[in-house]
Amino acid sequence: MRYLALLGSVLLAIGATFAKSSTGSSVLVVFDPKLNRQDYSLFFSGLEAYATDLSPQSLVQMLDSKINVIFVASPTNTPLTTLALEFGLTFSPPGAQLVSHFPERSSPHTVVPITAPDSKLLSNGTAPILYSGASHSIAPNPLIIPILRAPAESFATDSITEDGADVIVDAVDKGGEGLWAGSQIGVVSGFQTIDGARATWVGGPELFSDDYATQEVHKGVKSGNYQFAQDIAKWTFQETLTLKIDGTTHHLVGETTPREAYTTNDNVVYSMNVSAWNPETGAWVPYSGLTDMQLEFTMLDPHIRTSILPVKGKEGTYEVTFRAPDRHGVFKFVVDYKRKGMTPLRSETVVPVVPPRHDGYPRFLSAAWPYYAGAISTSIGFLLFSAVWLGGEFVPTKKGKSE
Ligand SMILES: *[C@@H]1O[C@H](CO)[C@@H](O)[C@H](O)[C@H]1NC(C)=O
Ligand SMILES: *[C@@H]1O[C@H](CO)[C@@H](O)[C@H](O)[C@H]1NC(C)=O
Repeated sequence: MRYLALLGSVLLAIGATFAKSSTGSSVLVVFDPKLNRQDYSLFFSGLEAYATDLSPQSLVQMLDSKINVIFVASPTNTPLTTLALEFGLTFSPPGAQLVSHFPERSSPHTVVPITAPDSKLLSNGTAPILYSGASHSIAPNPLIIPILRAPAESFATDSITEDGADVIVDAVDKGGEGLWAGSQIGVVSGFQTIDGARATWVGGPELFSDDYATQEVHKGVKSGNYQFAQDIAKWTFQETLTLKIDGTTHHLVGETTPREAYTTNDNVVYSMNVSAWNPETGAWVPYSGLTDMQLEFTMLDPHIRTSILPVKGKEGTYEVTFRAPDRHGVFKFVVDYKRKGMTPLRSETVVPVVPPRHDGYPRFLSAAWPYYAGAISTSIGFLLFSAVWLGGEFVPTKKGKSE
């Protein structure tokens, strides 16, 4: 219920806006001097003013200390856009707004309906989202999760008449990055740090407004803005797609307690428990939904890389059995699971693998059967020979037949 706590006690100032939850773990930053609190009552109910240092350094520090942030930039305001560069997002020049002339509609062309994509972050069947504001290009950074992209036929411009687009023309003249157009650009993007802290960038605060949340996109279909805003807030504030490792263990097949060391070629079982946060109940629950997790058994390089799958009937438990390699040394069990939008899971357990003890070698080798057979047949032959030699009847030959 962390997110609900946020809704209940978040603090919000008008103008340069900074909102912090009572637990201090969630932050919302909105830069818009014209922001009018009453216009955002659906989303930010019960918010209060809060004054603090809003320099980019302090905001980045927040992420470092695992505080999650929603940044809401506005097309006219730029303090956040330089900070966005640090996240690999390049915002369109100041004053430029996303415009789309399709589909034909009576509402202003700067209010763009965007179909909600299929995404783990968003609820199924979210209605088209009304968006107006800036757009950004997205660097190929694996930590960025594009949440909502601009429609293919949209573009950024500061004027919808043909001869007024000075800002964009200037930007193009200055070189390179002038063109913000098409579905490659984003309007809402997520960012997850290596530690799992989350930040979301939104190009315009109107997305959250009561006005857009209650408007109809088609006749009889209300916009998906409310649902969408809830979804991205839940994701950013670690309510959804939040996982953790509860524990890991390893043992020999047929045993239950971990060994100090394993012997080469031992059959080893490695198992781990994973939980996911359930926003409805506000508790961690065992989670068996990961089907693409891998375990590595490494000494410098992975000697074994195998998938570790959920165990049927044991919710939240993942297990794999494998044969230790025929190498001795200090090995590590490594699980390093990183997927876009999900909390990264990482676990490392060091375990030595030793050669067999002097009496740990097998006594009989099937490959040695020719030698065993040789020794046994020689022994049997000797016994038979001895028996015949000693016990055989002595029959003297008749000599001197002629005598
Ligand atoms: C959403 O849709 C996907 C694919 O159609 C489905 O696998 C998933 O269970 C759905 N989620 C919900 C919450 O209905
Ligand atoms: C995983 O969970 C099961 C069932 O709750 C428990 O018996 C087991 O000890 C746990 N294992 C680890 C490694 O935490």
